[in-house]
Amino acid sequence: MRLEGKHAIVTGGGRGIGREIGRRFAAEGCRVLLADIDGERAEAAAAEIGTGGVHACTADVGLPEGVRHLFETARACFGGRLDILINNAGIAHHGAFLDLTLEDWERVLRNNLTSAFLCAQAAARIMAAQGGGRIVNIGSISGQRGSYGRTAYGVTKAGIHQMTRIMAVELGPRGIAVNAIAPGPIDTGITSMGPDQERRYLERIPLGRFGLAPDVAGAALFLASDEAGYLTGSVVNVDGGFDAAGLIFSYTELTTVKSDVRDPSRSD
Ligand SMILES: NC(=O)c1ccc[n+]([C@@H]2O[C@H](COP(=O)([O-])OP(=O)(O)OC[C@H]3O[C@@H](n4cnc5c(N)ncnc54)[C@H](O)[C@@H]3O)[C@@H](O)[C@H]2O)c1
Repeated sequence: MRLEGKHAIVTGGGRGIGREIGRRFAAEGCRVLLADIDGERAEAAAAEIGTGGVHACTADVGLPEGVRHLFETARACFGGRLDILINNAGIAHHGAFLDLTLEDWERVLRNNLTSAFLCAQAAARIMAAQGGGRIVNIGSISGQRGSYGRTAYGVTKAGIHQMTRIMAVELGPRGIAVNAIAPGPIDTGITSMGPDQERRYLERIPLGRFGLAPDVAGAALFLASDEAGYLTGSVVNVDGGFDAAGLIFSYTELTTVKSDVRDPSRSD
């Protein structure tokens, strides 16, 4: 019962990683409000988790009026108390840089970054007044490194990581800790990859498997719990070593590369 007596908002809580965080938090004694633009999804998730302390709210957190509605609902559910915000709502986007439209760019920014800013600001105002709280922003490994087709998505996630650090600096003196989780590829059961893409990913993940929603929920639980009392401004990769590995080559591939072509004593 690591979150006994706490009150948490989880955005994008209707499915995938957000729903799993809601489930995990509820199991640790936390009262949870799952917010999703798809209200039926949020209701179904709350019903499935099935403890009395889980509520649902229909809200588009990329819009100020949606965030206002979410925080009014939170006040009604939690009596004005808010201990934890999980900024998880987001949309995926792939597309070549040269083809990216302004409309898509703005849509991804609004759903992934503006949403986190609006919710974090509303939450931090409550937390500052009550003397503290925890904010966990869900970023991505796509915000840590370059790759194809991730201009809009990767920029929003890099923004999430940097906003986390700046919020940690400004809000630390008010007792609010702010950290981010950067998941690698997580199998939430809704996207399917071709076998070739799957194999190429797995070759680059040292732990040899895709992540699962409970892997991310476990990190979120730690960051929201008292055990993480001295952590703020951190971006925690939950990626099986994907980021650390970078462009991974097998040992055999490496030994076929001339290791020091500048060494004049070498004849090969
Ligand atoms: N799945 C992965 O491989 C992966 C990897 C890295 C980061 N992430 C991040 O984790 C988070 C959750 O990802 P997921 O895979 O569970 O996604 P998902 O699509 O399964 O769930 C996201 C939920 O957010 C909701 N949502 C989207 N925009 C919203 C808005 N404006 N207002 C309210 N709700 C909104 C959706 O309706 C959906 O229910 C996202 O921020 C995503 O970028 C996921």
